[in-house]
Amino acid sequence: MRRRILLFDSGMGGLTVARAVAAELPEADLVYAADTAAFPYGAWGEAELTQRIIRVLTELIERVLPDAVVIACNTASTVAMIPVRRAFALPFVGTVPAIKPAAAMTKSNIVGVLATPGTVQREYTHSLIKTYAGHCKVVLHGAPRLAELAERHLRGERISPDELMQEISPVFIEEGGARTDVVVLGCTHYPLLVDEMRRLAPWSVEYVDPAPAIARRVAFVLEELGDRRTLPATVTHGTAFITSNVANEGVRSAYSAMGFPKVDVINLPVS
Ligand code: DGL
Repeated sequence: MRRRILLFDSGMGGLTVARAVAAELPEADLVYAADTAAFPYGAWGEAELTQRIIRVLTELIERVLPDAVVIACNTASTVAMIPVRRAFALPFVGTVPAIKPAAAMTKSNIVGVLATPGTVQREYTHSLIKTYAGHCKVVLHGAPRLAELAERHLRGERISPDELMQEISPVFIEEGGARTDVVVLGCTHYPLLVDEMRRLAPWSVEYVDPAPAIARRVAFVLEELGDRRTLPATVTHGTAFITSNVANEGVRSAYSAMGFPKVDVINLPVS
Protein backbone atom coordinates (compact mmCIF):
# COMPACT_ATOMS: atom_id res chain seq x y z
CA MET A 1 0.00 0.00 0.00
CA ARG A 2 1.29 3.46 -0.88
CA ARG A 3 1.62 5.43 2.35
CA ARG A 4 1.76 9.18 2.91
CA ILE A 5 4.20 10.64 5.42
CA LEU A 6 4.31 14.23 6.65
CA LEU A 7 7.75 15.43 7.78
CA PHE A 8 7.80 18.57 9.88
CA ASP A 9 10.56 20.96 10.99
CA SER A 10 11.04 24.67 11.67
CA GLY A 11 12.98 25.00 8.43
CA MET A 12 15.10 23.02 6.02
CA GLY A 13 16.78 20.74 8.58
CA GLY A 14 14.14 18.04 8.37
CA LEU A 15 15.12 17.58 4.74
CA THR A 16 18.08 15.54 6.02
CA VAL A 17 15.55 13.19 7.63
CA ALA A 18 13.34 13.23 4.51
CA ARG A 19 16.36 12.15 2.46
CA ALA A 20 16.89 9.12 4.72
CA VAL A 21 13.16 8.24 4.73
CA ALA A 22 13.09 8.43 0.92
CA ALA A 23 16.03 6.02 0.76
CA GLU A 24 14.40 3.60 3.22
CA LEU A 25 10.88 3.82 1.76
CA PRO A 26 11.17 4.71 -1.93
CA GLU A 27 7.49 3.85 -2.50
CA ALA A 28 6.09 6.27 0.09
CA ASP A 29 4.60 9.68 -0.70
CA LEU A 30 6.50 12.34 1.22
CA VAL A 31 5.14 15.77 2.07
CA TYR A 32 7.37 18.25 3.88
CA ALA A 33 6.44 21.22 6.02
CA ALA A 34 8.67 23.96 7.42
CA ASP A 35 7.37 26.46 9.96
CA THR A 36 9.40 29.24 8.38
CA ALA A 37 7.28 31.94 10.03
CA ALA A 38 8.54 30.78 13.42
CA PHE A 39 12.14 29.83 12.47
CA PRO A 40 14.37 29.35 14.42
CA TYR A 41 12.67 27.20 17.07
CA GLY A 42 15.90 27.12 19.07
CA ALA A 43 15.16 30.51 20.55
CA TRP A 44 11.54 29.82 21.65
CA GLY A 45 10.33 29.15 25.20
CA GLU A 46 8.79 25.72 25.87
CA ALA A 47 5.12 26.62 26.42
CA GLU A 48 4.85 28.97 23.43
CA LEU A 49 6.68 26.52 21.19
CA THR A 50 4.38 23.63 22.14
CA GLN A 51 1.33 25.78 21.37
CA ARG A 52 2.78 26.88 18.06
CA ILE A 53 3.60 23.32 16.98
CA ILE A 54 0.06 22.10 17.78
CA ARG A 55 -1.44 25.00 15.86
CA VAL A 56 0.67 24.44 12.75
CA LEU A 57 0.27 20.66 12.83
CA THR A 58 -3.51 20.97 13.11
CA GLU A 59 -3.56 22.91 9.86
CA LEU A 60 -1.10 20.61 8.10
CA ILE A 61 -2.65 17.32 9.14
CA GLU A 62 -6.06 18.50 7.90
CA ARG A 63 -4.56 19.31 4.55
CA VAL A 64 -2.20 16.41 4.05
CA LEU A 65 -4.14 13.55 5.72
CA PRO A 66 -0.93 11.61 6.42
CA ASP A 67 -0.64 8.03 7.67
CA ALA A 68 2.19 9.07 9.97
CA VAL A 69 4.01 12.25 10.99
CA VAL A 70 7.74 12.67 11.57
CA ILE A 71 8.72 15.55 13.82
CA ALA A 72 12.06 15.99 12.07
CA CYS A 73 13.27 18.50 14.63
CA ASN A 74 15.04 17.90 17.95
CA THR A 75 14.00 21.25 19.37
CA ALA A 76 10.33 20.39 18.80
CA SER A 77 10.54 16.69 19.71
CA THR A 78 12.29 17.21 23.04
CA VAL A 79 9.47 19.45 24.20
CA ALA A 80 6.28 18.53 22.37
CA MET A 81 6.08 14.79 21.67
CA ILE A 82 3.75 14.02 24.55
CA PRO A 83 1.27 16.87 23.90
CA VAL A 84 1.37 16.18 20.16
CA ARG A 85 0.60 12.48 20.62
CA ARG A 86 -2.25 13.47 22.90
CA ALA A 87 -3.63 15.97 20.39
CA PHE A 88 -3.74 13.81 17.24
CA ALA A 89 -4.84 10.23 16.66
CA LEU A 90 -1.92 9.39 14.37
CA PRO A 91 1.43 7.64 14.75
CA PHE A 92 4.29 10.08 15.38
CA VAL A 93 8.03 9.57 15.12
CA GLY A 94 10.27 12.10 16.86
CA THR A 95 13.94 13.06 16.65
CA VAL A 96 16.02 13.38 19.79
CA PRO A 97 19.79 13.87 20.20
CA ALA A 98 21.61 10.58 19.50
CA ILE A 99 23.30 10.50 22.91
CA LYS A 100 22.75 6.77 23.45
CA PRO A 101 24.65 5.59 20.31
CA ALA A 102 27.32 8.25 20.84
CA ALA A 103 27.96 7.06 24.40
CA ALA A 104 28.31 3.50 23.08
CA MET A 105 30.77 4.60 20.36
CA THR A 106 33.18 6.85 22.24
CA LYS A 107 36.59 5.51 23.19
CA SER A 108 37.88 8.64 24.90
CA ASN A 109 34.63 8.97 26.91
CA ILE A 110 34.33 12.58 25.80
CA VAL A 111 31.25 13.22 23.69
CA GLY A 112 30.24 16.56 22.19
CA VAL A 113 26.59 17.43 21.57
CA LEU A 114 25.83 20.19 19.12
CA ALA A 115 22.21 21.30 19.38
CA THR A 116 20.06 24.43 19.52
CA PRO A 117 19.94 26.58 22.67
CA GLY A 118 16.43 25.16 23.29
CA THR A 119 17.44 21.51 23.03
CA VAL A 120 20.42 21.82 25.41
CA GLN A 121 18.13 23.20 28.10
CA ARG A 122 15.51 20.48 27.88
CA GLU A 123 14.88 18.13 30.75
CA TYR A 124 14.59 15.38 28.14
CA THR A 125 18.14 15.93 26.86
CA HIS A 126 19.53 15.88 30.41
CA SER A 127 17.70 12.68 31.21
CA LEU A 128 19.17 11.02 28.07
CA ILE A 129 22.63 11.93 29.33
CA LYS A 130 21.90 10.61 32.81
CA THR A 131 20.45 7.36 31.50
CA TYR A 132 22.92 6.50 28.74
CA ALA A 133 26.09 8.51 29.17
CA GLY A 134 26.90 8.22 32.87
CA HIS A 135 30.44 7.02 32.02
CA CYS A 136 31.14 10.00 29.73
CA LYS A 137 31.93 13.63 29.92
CA VAL A 138 29.24 15.18 27.73
CA VAL A 139 29.98 18.64 26.38
CA LEU A 140 26.62 20.18 25.51
CA HIS A 141 26.70 23.23 23.30
CA GLY A 142 23.68 25.31 22.31
CA ALA A 143 24.82 26.80 19.01
CA PRO A 144 22.89 30.03 18.47
CA ARG A 145 23.36 30.36 14.70
CA LEU A 146 24.32 26.98 13.33
CA ALA A 147 20.82 26.12 11.98
CA GLU A 148 20.70 29.43 10.16
CA LEU A 149 24.17 28.85 8.69
CA ALA A 150 23.05 25.43 7.48
CA GLU A 151 20.08 26.99 5.68
CA ARG A 152 22.30 29.58 4.06
CA HIS A 153 24.66 26.86 2.91
CA LEU A 154 21.81 24.80 1.43
CA ARG A 155 20.56 27.89 -0.41
CA GLY A 156 23.97 28.12 -2.05
CA GLU A 157 25.27 31.10 -0.03
CA ARG A 158 28.84 31.23 1.18
CA ILE A 159 29.45 30.90 4.89
CA SER A 160 32.78 31.88 6.35
CA PRO A 161 35.02 29.34 8.13
CA ASP A 162 35.19 31.72 11.12
CA GLU A 163 31.42 31.79 11.49
CA LEU A 164 31.25 28.03 11.40
CA MET A 165 34.16 27.54 13.79
CA GLN A 166 32.59 29.86 16.33
CA GLU A 167 29.50 27.63 16.40
CA ILE A 168 31.22 24.25 16.62
CA SER A 169 34.53 24.73 18.45
CA PRO A 170 33.14 24.54 22.04
CA VAL A 171 32.49 20.78 21.69
CA PHE A 172 36.12 20.03 20.84
CA ILE A 173 37.87 19.71 24.18
CA GLU A 174 41.05 18.10 25.51
CA GLU A 175 41.19 16.96 29.08
CA GLY A 176 43.75 14.82 30.93
CA GLY A 177 45.30 13.58 27.70
CA ALA A 178 41.93 12.63 26.14
CA ARG A 179 39.84 14.55 23.67
CA THR A 180 36.37 14.59 22.14
CA ASP A 181 36.06 11.71 19.69
CA VAL A 182 32.30 11.66 18.95
CA VAL A 183 30.04 14.63 18.13
CA VAL A 184 26.25 14.25 18.11
CA LEU A 185 24.48 16.30 15.45
CA GLY A 186 21.58 17.15 17.75
CA CYS A 187 19.67 19.29 15.27
CA THR A 188 18.44 18.06 11.92
CA HIS A 189 19.98 21.07 10.18
CA TYR A 190 23.54 20.17 11.08
CA PRO A 191 24.13 17.21 8.74
CA LEU A 192 23.84 19.79 5.95
CA LEU A 193 27.18 21.16 7.16
CA VAL A 194 28.95 17.97 8.13
CA ASP A 195 31.45 18.07 5.24
CA GLU A 196 32.43 21.61 6.21
CA MET A 197 32.72 20.56 9.86
CA ARG A 198 35.01 17.68 8.85
CA ARG A 199 37.19 20.11 6.94
CA LEU A 200 37.44 22.75 9.64
CA ALA A 201 37.37 20.83 12.91
CA PRO A 202 40.60 20.91 14.95
CA TRP A 203 40.80 17.09 14.75
CA SER A 204 38.83 14.27 13.26
CA VAL A 205 35.83 12.82 15.17
CA GLU A 206 32.81 10.62 14.42
CA TYR A 207 29.68 12.67 13.70
CA VAL A 208 26.39 10.98 14.64
CA ASP A 209 23.44 11.74 12.38
CA PRO A 210 20.33 9.90 13.58
CA ALA A 211 18.45 10.19 10.25
CA PRO A 212 18.94 6.56 9.08
CA ALA A 213 17.70 5.25 12.46
CA ILE A 214 14.66 7.56 12.27
CA ALA A 215 13.91 6.28 8.77
CA ARG A 216 13.99 2.68 10.02
CA ARG A 217 11.63 3.64 12.82
CA VAL A 218 9.24 5.21 10.29
CA ALA A 219 9.26 1.98 8.26
CA PHE A 220 8.41 0.02 11.40
CA VAL A 221 5.56 2.37 12.32
CA LEU A 222 4.08 2.03 8.82
CA GLU A 223 4.30 -1.76 9.04
CA GLU A 224 2.32 -1.58 12.22
CA LEU A 225 -0.56 0.14 10.42
CA GLY A 226 -1.28 -3.22 8.83
CA ASP A 227 -4.05 -2.91 6.28
CA ARG A 228 -5.50 0.33 7.62
CA ARG A 229 -6.54 2.33 4.58
CA THR A 230 -4.68 5.47 3.50
CA LEU A 231 -7.06 8.43 3.06
CA PRO A 232 -7.37 9.80 -0.49
CA ALA A 233 -4.54 12.16 -1.39
CA THR A 234 -5.12 15.89 -1.39
CA VAL A 235 -1.46 16.80 -1.77
CA THR A 236 1.09 15.34 -4.15
CA HIS A 237 4.36 13.61 -3.33
CA GLY A 238 7.25 16.06 -3.29
CA THR A 239 5.29 19.04 -1.97
CA ALA A 240 6.90 21.29 0.66
CA PHE A 241 4.71 23.68 2.63
CA ILE A 242 6.19 26.77 4.22
CA THR A 243 4.32 28.98 6.68
CA SER A 244 5.53 32.33 5.33
CA ASN A 245 6.42 33.52 1.89
CA VAL A 246 10.20 33.12 1.89
CA ALA A 247 10.31 31.18 -1.36
CA ASN A 248 12.94 32.92 -3.46
CA GLU A 249 15.00 31.15 -6.12
CA GLY A 250 17.59 29.85 -3.64
CA VAL A 251 14.89 28.39 -1.38
CA ARG A 252 13.06 26.70 -4.26
CA SER A 253 16.15 25.13 -5.70
CA ALA A 254 17.25 23.91 -2.25
CA TYR A 255 13.91 22.15 -1.72
CA SER A 256 13.98 20.79 -5.22
CA ALA A 257 17.51 19.39 -4.79
CA MET A 258 16.33 17.58 -1.64
CA GLY A 259 13.32 15.97 -3.36
CA PHE A 260 10.59 18.61 -2.97
CA PRO A 261 10.17 20.46 -6.26
CA LYS A 262 6.77 21.96 -5.39
CA VAL A 263 6.88 24.70 -2.71
CA ASP A 264 3.51 26.01 -1.45
CA VAL A 265 2.85 28.74 1.11
CA ILE A 266 0.29 28.27 3.89
CA ASN A 267 0.33 31.60 5.68
CA LEU A 268 0.49 31.01 9.42
CA PRO A 269 2.00 34.13 10.96
CA VAL A 270 3.27 34.07 14.52
CA SER A 271 0.61 35.83 16.55
N1 DGL B 1 16.03 21.54 12.92
C1 DGL B 1 15.78 21.86 14.26
C2 DGL B 1 16.26 20.81 15.23
O1 DGL B 1 16.45 19.67 14.88
C3 DGL B 1 15.87 23.23 14.83
C4 DGL B 1 16.39 24.44 14.19
C5 DGL B 1 15.78 25.68 14.81
O2 DGL B 1 14.67 26.02 14.38
O3 DGL B 1 16.34 26.27 15.74
O4 DGL B 1 16.46 21.08 16.38
